[in-house]
Amino acid sequence: MPATVLVGAQWGDEGKGKITDLISSDFDYVVRYQGGNNAGHTVIADGKKLALHLIPSGIMYDHITPVIANGTVIDPKVLLDEIDMLEREGFSTERLKISGNAHIIMPYHRDLDGASEHRLGKNEIGTTLRGIGPCYQDKAARIGLRIQDMLDEDIFREKVEAALVEKNPILSKIYKLPEYTVEQICDEYFAYAKRIKPYIEETGRFLNEALNNKKNILFEGAQGTLLDIDHGTYPFVTSSSCSAGGSVIGSGVGIKHINRVLGIAKAYITRVGAGPFPTEISLDDEASKILTEVGGEYGVTTGRKRRTGWYDAVIVKYAAEVNGLTDLAITKLDVLSEFDTIKVCTAYKCGDRTYNTVPEHQSIFHHAEPVYTELPGWKSDITGCRSFYDLPREAKDYIDFIEDLAGVKVSIIAVGPDREQTILRRW
Ligand code: IMP
Repeated sequence: MPATVLVGAQWGDEGKGKITDLISSDFDYVVRYQGGNNAGHTVIADGKKLALHLIPSGIMYDHITPVIANGTVIDPKVLLDEIDMLEREGFSTERLKISGNAHIIMPYHRDLDGASEHRLGKNEIGTTLRGIGPCYQDKAARIGLRIQDMLDEDIFREKVEAALVEKNPILSKIYKLPEYTVEQICDEYFAYAKRIKPYIEETGRFLNEALNNKKNILFEGAQGTLLDIDHGTYPFVTSSSCSAGGSVIGSGVGIKHINRVLGIAKAYITRVGAGPFPTEISLDDEASKILTEVGGEYGVTTGRKRRTGWYDAVIVKYAAEVNGLTDLAITKLDVLSEFDTIKVCTAYKCGDRTYNTVPEHQSIFHHAEPVYTELPGWKSDITGCRSFYDLPREAKDYIDFIEDLAGVKVSIIAVGPDREQTILRRW
């Protein structure tokens, strides 16, 4: 096993939480390697439904050590609220490890996220407004604050001072927002630091030692491949490397340890925020209403209604390449049970050209028209199916069809929200 990476193969919200929860019992460590509390998934454990944004869902299992690694960005208040919520619900957070190299989301990051979206107007990205982009911006500009800075109040204060020299004029002069004082920020963040200190660990070394001791690691990707800063639909992306490669950069574990890459794709597709989406179904179309309501397509983090569309085999094939997928999990197959026929996009028509791959130029992608194959629906309840052979023939054909197009075996199929509503086919 030693290390498996689980990644979103679409635009996020593929149902990664459910699959992580399902397979994590096989692992000793579950690691978040990028992103922050822009992510969110609901986990059902011990009959309790819990929404997690930052802490890996492995926290629910006593034998798992959850790790928030160096590639993430952490809003300390959100982290502590999540810790408190878990403790209240009876889940110990004692095993949690947080990298000292992870970056801290500061109050001005949240302000700047909102202000820059407002400035962009109709060209906005539709971010989650959690300060993620501005925090990664400061990381790259080398003026960010890291979790380890919380271990030394003098250093922390110095760095806040240095950051505010730049941030305050941007806040007040460009965006007409209030400035911050060093004391204001330090008072708030020193209180967080006291509580966060016990969790801080050199997580890179810690994980490498674990691998040397033959432990198994699951890297839990957040967002999805098409939201990756390098490989996604830039600029309508998040600011981190959510594809599988990010797992080694974002954790300090060597590439040689990764031997399985599991891509998660919904049996249809959704997207939140702006950006190109060739198979999008118009909001007033009955199909969109069905996917939204039956699929419960509202964001866990923002509550926003997700845009919905038909399964796009071109982008899943792209995700297979970018991530080096060894396996695919198809989630929410049961949501399609309502349809007489189901469309799958197999190529794009862009002007006179047909593309079987994601077009190289963003403006071409913006105008891509989906080429669909329409498959018969199964029109029956599949939520009780527990083996591939239990599925109606049309559902099996649907899975086989998308498996062929992706060129990756479909190992897991989810037919309902509960852990047991899953078909383990070749896992
Ligand atoms: P940010 O990550 O808040 O900067 O948002 C950038 C883009 O990524 C926006 O289109 C968001 O809607 C999208 N995004 C961020 N996190 C998620 C997620 O967990 N699921 C789906 N979309 C996300």
